[in-house]
Amino acid sequence: MRFPALPDFPWDSLAGAAAVARGHPDGVVDLSVGTPVDPVPTAVGEALRAAWDSPGYPQTWGTPALREAAVEALGRRHGAGRSPAEGLDPDAVLPTVGSKELVAWLPTLLGLGGRDGNRDVVAFPELAYPTYEVGAQLAGAQPARVGDDEPLPAGTRLVWLNSPSNPTGRLLDAAALTARVAEARALGAVVAADECYLALPGPGVRTTSVLDPVVHDGSVEGLLAVHSLSKTSNLAGYRAGLVLGDPMLVAGLLQVRKHAGMIVPRPVQEAMTAALRDDTHVAETRARYDGRRRVLRPALEAAGLRVEHSEAGLYLWATADEPCRATVDRLAARGILVAPGEFYGPAGGSHVRVALTASDERIAAAARRLAE
Ligand SMILES: Cc1ncc(COP(=O)(O)O)c(C=O)c1O
Repeated sequence: MRFPALPDFPWDSLAGAAAVARGHPDGVVDLSVGTPVDPVPTAVGEALRAAWDSPGYPQTWGTPALREAAVEALGRRHGAGRSPAEGLDPDAVLPTVGSKELVAWLPTLLGLGGRDGNRDVVAFPELAYPTYEVGAQLAGAQPARVGDDEPLPAGTRLVWLNSPSNPTGRLLDAAALTARVAEARALGAVVAADECYLALPGPGVRTTSVLDPVVHDGSVEGLLAVHSLSKTSNLAGYRAGLVLGDPMLVAGLLQVRKHAGMIVPRPVQEAMTAALRDDTHVAETRARYDGRRRVLRPALEAAGLRVEHSEAGLYLWATADEPCRATVDRLAARGILVAPGEFYGPAGGSHVRVALTASDERIAAAARRLAE
């Protein structure tokens, strides 16, 4: 048996710091993983429960109601300029078993890999969610970290964008998205925009979808937006994601995913439909994270860390201008567990990522400990 060679799972290396942080007399404040702690919206949970009697196979494509709800939500929630739902056919929407699954398998599903000694290039941001690299490796393609201002390498067949970014909270504005789309199209590469934090901008901040017509000027050819309900609707436990955009690409993905059994359970499809029809809980979620950002950011700064970017999404990207593991250890000694920036690429070697995904009580505890 020859399993694909993959990196060690990064969080395993945090065991030592986690043990130290757990030893704090008032308990650990774990800000190392972006896993939601707030409740599932009641109406969403009820939709799941109401669909418990689902003996038959669900549709890989998702119910028509789910696909329509996805297009409508995109228009309502992200249509600050021209609507990204403009001209988008509900047929060009596909549910995924959370978005990590799609991120890990998209290069494979697109048929990318290596032929005759040439490997297709999968490009992704210099500081990035680790699964883009894993996806390239699973497919046998060539992973390539590309800075926002660097050109795409020759041979690029897939480009991952991620705005707002994990881990930095940095945004790509419409002009930056447009430039990358044009560059990718010139190379014949697919653009996959991982937009799982799109609905969670900080106050006064505007996020832009790659499907916004200001970005692509009327044609979604070669463009995919990858969405997740994990953070926006506290549904990480349900595994609920979506991919939408170019109808030809979505049809191709559907075809492979049908054969491969990559299907979202029917009760989860119903829960997703309910979540996508309601914006109230999304506004509440945004307000919760804004409140936590307002407490934690100044507390980190007062403790001598510099917070960079972090204008949107769920993370504070901070540095004490020292190797990231030293910062991790110093914070662990105060009972606060954060992720070392090196998890996201070599450029993160002197940063830490501090997640806002803890209860208000735990965030307040972290702020108190930072002031001690
Ligand atoms: C940038 C990014 N993409 C994708 C995911 C995967 O999310 P999920 O699989 O829960 O939809 C995450 C999770 O943290 C993420 O940060």
